[in-house]
Amino acid sequence: MIAGAARLPTPRWGTVTLVSAPSLDAIVSAFAAHYGEPPAAAFHAPGRVNLIGEHTDYSNLPVLPIAIERGITVAACPAEGALVEAFSSNFEGAPALACANPSADAAIPWSPYLAGALRELADLAPSRGAKLFIDGDLPAGGGLSSSSALTVGVIAALAAAWDVRLTPEEIVRRAVIAERHAGVESGGMDQEVIVFATAGAALRIDFDPAGRRLVLVPPGLAFVAAYSGDDAPKAGSARDAYNERVVGARIATAMLADEVGLELEHPITLRQVAGVDVVDVLVDGLPERLSATEAAHGIDLDIEQLVRLTSGRFDHQLKVPVRRVARHILREAERVDQAEAALLAGDLPAFGRLLNESHDSLRGDFGCSTPALDRLCAAMRKAGAFGARLTGAGFGGYALAAAPPSAIAAVIEAAIGAAGGPAFEVHASGGLCRL
Ligand code: GLA
Repeated sequence: MIAGAARLPTPRWGTVTLVSAPSLDAIVSAFAAHYGEPPAAAFHAPGRVNLIGEHTDYSNLPVLPIAIERGITVAACPAEGALVEAFSSNFEGAPALACANPSADAAIPWSPYLAGALRELADLAPSRGAKLFIDGDLPAGGGLSSSSALTVGVIAALAAAWDVRLTPEEIVRRAVIAERHAGVESGGMDQEVIVFATAGAALRIDFDPAGRRLVLVPPGLAFVAAYSGDDAPKAGSARDAYNERVVGARIATAMLADEVGLELEHPITLRQVAGVDVVDVLVDGLPERLSATEAAHGIDLDIEQLVRLTSGRFDHQLKVPVRRVARHILREAERVDQAEAALLAGDLPAFGRLLNESHDSLRGDFGCSTPALDRLCAAMRKAGAFGARLTGAGFGGYALAAAPPSAIAAVIEAAIGAAGGPAFEVHASGGLCRL
């Protein structure tokens, strides 16, 4: 741990830990002390809190996140040879990966993100070496997008160290794919807000057609991020539960399109049927659970289009949730429009109600809340929040409360009382920046 950072129990990727953000000077000194030379470039990639639009991005439906002041800093310099070495003040282990053929070190839980980033840079800088240092104050494994901040930061810092020019759009595109190499079939929300966020505003992101617009955070609205006490690692059971729902959404799309006689384009996303005809009614008639094999039977569809995941295999016979997943996603997309309108109108109680509805839907239909998250949200609402909901993929991790500034202290206290903390205020902050 570098000078100036708070001493905490040994951090582990997948465990929530907090360290205070070090200055650029501290990063340069830590880098030089370890490698004997200064970094060529350092980037800060923020974490994110999604305000609303949860589990909509991989269906190409809109999201409304903010970047936060906590994040991950990556410093890099080029090195002789074709090895990329990394060490971190936050995460255990010091991976050294071959640039030409990076394979993650199973003993180091954050190395898949590094390997994914290297793979996505391989066409631009084949067989180049580098030294990396990773620092930050973003809790890992909690749903504040530490993995995407790491991946975006590594791609930006390595590209700069190797003198490779990447547009912000290219960084987003490569970071999305890099993260899928790590096994989660995620959408593009995290990487996009991490790169494009602006302080003081949420970012409304549309994926089809692609678009972004700033939605100012109105006066009188403040945010708290609070840990539920349950880890939500992007590996293991949470990853499998996430990927099952991605497949469930595709199965729902295929069945709904079949019912209304719509020709699907690929990739299959609920966006293609959202708002079409009576799909919002038909969704209630979908089966509760279905396997891809059962779904493909009777619909003229290649099963691989349903189960195609960027990495890993998917069990075609596995029954995945269909009806409730689709219902959540379609209704959540409508809530994003309504929440944006409420922010524009400064109607904060309406905005809060939408957050609560989103949480109810994530709990009841999508099935990614936990009792600890439910208790945490209830406590924060009772303490004066306009609304509260789980944020990020769920299955544990963090919740968000939207509250008047005068209630922030009480909301934080209630959150810590309910779940043990950490809980802290977050502000809509700027995106990726070079230090
Ligand atoms: C994770 C993924 C995102 C998004 C959220 C849920 O954070 O990385 O792409 O799907 O879950 O909204």
